[in-house]
Amino acid sequence: MPQTAVSIRRYANFFRKSGATRVLDYGTGTMRNALYLAGQGFTVYAADLPEQVAALIPCPAVQRLAGLMDTEQLAICRLNVDLVVSTYVFNIIPGYEEQRRYVANAVRNLRPGGYLLMEVRCPREGSVCGAGCSHYFKCPGCAKTYTHTELDQLLRPFGLRRISHYYRRRAVAAIYKKSEE
Ligand SMILES: C[S@@+](CC[C@H](N)C(=O)[O-])C[C@H]1O[C@@H](n2cnc3c(N)ncnc32)[C@H](O)[C@@H]1O
Repeated sequence: MPQTAVSIRRYANFFRKSGATRVLDYGTGTMRNALYLAGQGFTVYAADLPEQVAALIPCPAVQRLAGLMDTEQLAICRLNVDLVVSTYVFNIIPGYEEQRRYVANAVRNLRPGGYLLMEVRCPREGSVCGAGCSHYFKCPGCAKTYTHTELDQLLRPFGLRRISHYYRRRAVAAIYKKSEE
């Protein structure tokens, strides 16, 4: 089993102390974070694209989750979880419309006052995407990266306010709180 993301291990205790019990791992991949959190006593739902969910269904470990669903099923759910975790997903989603749909799904399944932990790749200082690109990692053909302030701008319209963040190697992890209304 691949190692749990550092951000998940780092913040798990904070979320527990904040009263979080129900978690959605959105873009679960190999379920590394979902299974870690389930082992820590959280009730964990995991979601991913239909083809990835189909690949995961035969895994016995799925039984340790409260639910596994694809993005189409998630789009009609209201799980009302206390926490959505999203590690290395947002930065690989191509196009603003799909990104917007992703965040809207996360927020709809999050209870008022709940938390979103988002970890994405961040830009390397002084680097550009490639020869001839002037968009600094933001064009669809290049690896996408974000700073915490760029994430703030993208997530604020969804009622998400950043309460903490840190940079580590080539990634930024940030916690957002959904407004209570
Ligand atoms: C780089 S992997 C990260 C997996 C996991 N979060 C982790 O940190 O190990 C990205 C995952 O996001 C999923 N993904 C891509 N686009 C998605 C979308 N629009 N909605 C949900 N999951 C998506 C991919 O199928 C893949 O499993």
